[in-house]
Amino acid sequence: MFTLPEAQHLIENHIQTISIPEAPSELYEPVRYVLSMGGKRIRPALVILACDLFSGAVESALMPAVAIEVFHNFTLLHDDIMDRSELRRGKPAVHVKFGENVAILSGDVMSIMASRLMNQSPGVILNVVQDVFTKTAMQVCEGQQMDMNFESVLTVSEEEYLTMIELKTAVLIAASLKIGALLGGSSQKDAEDLYEFGKYLGMAFQLQDDLLDTFGDPDITGKKQGTDIVDNKKTYLMIEALGCASAAQRKELLKWLTAREFNREEKIRSVTLIFDTLKIRERTEKKIRAYYDRALTNLHKLNRPGERKTELINFASYLMNRNR
Ligand code: IPE
Ligand code: IPE
Ligand code: MG
Ligand code: MG
Ligand code: MG
Repeated sequence: MFTLPEAQHLIENHIQTISIPEAPSELYEPVRYVLSMGGKRIRPALVILACDLFSGAVESALMPAVAIEVFHNFTLLHDDIMDRSELRRGKPAVHVKFGENVAILSGDVMSIMASRLMNQSPGVILNVVQDVFTKTAMQVCEGQQMDMNFESVLTVSEEEYLTMIELKTAVLIAASLKIGALLGGSSQKDAEDLYEFGKYLGMAFQLQDDLLDTFGDPDITGKKQGTDIVDNKKTYLMIEALGCASAAQRKELLKWLTAREFNREEKIRSVTLIFDTLKIRERTEKKIRAYYDRALTNLHKLNRPGERKTELINFASYLMNRNR
């Protein structure tokens, strides 16, 4: 059975073996760049661990696992343009280093590469896997559009936020587990059960991403701190704060959310101060914990021997305690 570090190591090695054309170098150099700058590799590791739950023969899951990682990296290229983020994994984002047009087209080619890699799934299961993958890919775009739409509206309900993060983040984590399970020969029911586990894990994951954007250590996250605040993102933090703010605090939050010109650092400082006063960090941690618990409840329901699930339980606690 694979442990998480073993699965991550396997993926890291395998990513380096996929063929990326040389020319035009302007198109493919950023692909090499983004795929070689690390990242936690959690989605492909989940493909491997899920496959391993049902069958020790994980070789057939390697290409699909890499496909999902390539797809994820494609979304990051475009996400960083959309979010005006300059730093990714501690290095200049692709659009900063190579220019916006390059980041758009290199992102496009990565999304197509991902489909081609996914096509290397074993024939018997290929159609099912492709169907899960393409449906998920569309949902990610839908979630990203909602995220963008929310930048320019002042009130977003918690429910709308949860739908948005389910689409932009949770479904890809869930699909990684489902695809891994199917490649391992699981029943449809077991694959669905794992999907549910992954969905709740993914919700917790995005809530934590929101938390780290404001309260994380940028030297560890590798991203610029406070970008969500600057972008007027309707994160869980902002929605909670607007929900429980006093009249004066609410007025100040709305002032920052509608300010056309502002000092970046001052905006981050002022909004974070309100978050602190309202104990938003603690409230978000509580919500994260609730989603992890829900994920684990779903994992316990899965019809596999307990010791086989240990790695996924370890995985959940690794994510729960992550600081990058
Ligand atoms: C970042 O994903 C984007 C989100 C969905 C929150 P990760 O935190 O998995 O990024 P890397 O791949 O480890 O850099
Ligand atoms: C990213 O959400 C979701 C996708 C890339 C699909 P964020 O915009 O919060 O991710 P980071 O924080 O930039 O990594
Ligand atoms: Mg972003
Ligand atoms: Mg984004
Ligand atoms: Mg984020």
